[in-house]
Amino acid sequence: MFTPRAIGFIQSPYRDTASIPRGLGAQHKAEGIIEILPEFEPGLTDIEGFSHLFVIWVFDRVEGFDLVGAPPTDDRPHGVFATRRPNPLGLTVVELLRREGPSLHVRGVDMLAGTPVLDIKPYMSGIPAEPVRRGWLAEAEARKAAR
Ligand SMILES: C[S@@+](CC[C@H](N)C(=O)[O-])C[C@H]1O[C@@H](n2cnc3c(N)ncnc32)[C@H](O)[C@@H]1O
Repeated sequence: MFTPRAIGFIQSPYRDTASIPRGLGAQHKAEGIIEILPEFEPGLTDIEGFSHLFVIWVFDRVEGFDLVGAPPTDDRPHGVFATRRPNPLGLTVVELLRREGPSLHVRGVDMLAGTPVLDIKPYMSGIPAEPVRRGWLAEAEARKAAR
């Protein structure tokens, strides 16, 4: 295996998990900054050309997990791989607003302030939206809309 290292940290308006929108229909429009550590700044060359980024980060303030459990978006249980993961890795797509040196100003953060970032990657998907199936989440949304 390998020992991951942070390439930077998130500046976010969120100081506690309760303030982060969650559950069905939650929108993530909050702006934040990904502060890349100085030694990695040259790696940001040409990042400005991309509108969105994948951010891979660490749930550094959570412990353990259940293999089956109800996520905040549903009252029915689902398997961990259909919801969250055994390893405390978060994945968020953010909109890149601008770069100021090692600081990436982004919109769409759902992480707490100070969250360690392990990697960023330009968002690229060759999959058109239509054939994407959203499994239990689509069913939960349909149940909520029918209430
Ligand atoms: C539902 S998760 C989704 C995160 C990411 N988009 C994903 O799919 O991996 C987002 C929640 O993680 C929690 N959270 C955010 N930053 C965290 C951190 N650094 N440590 C522990 N929990 C965190 C907050 O409760 C937030 O509402």
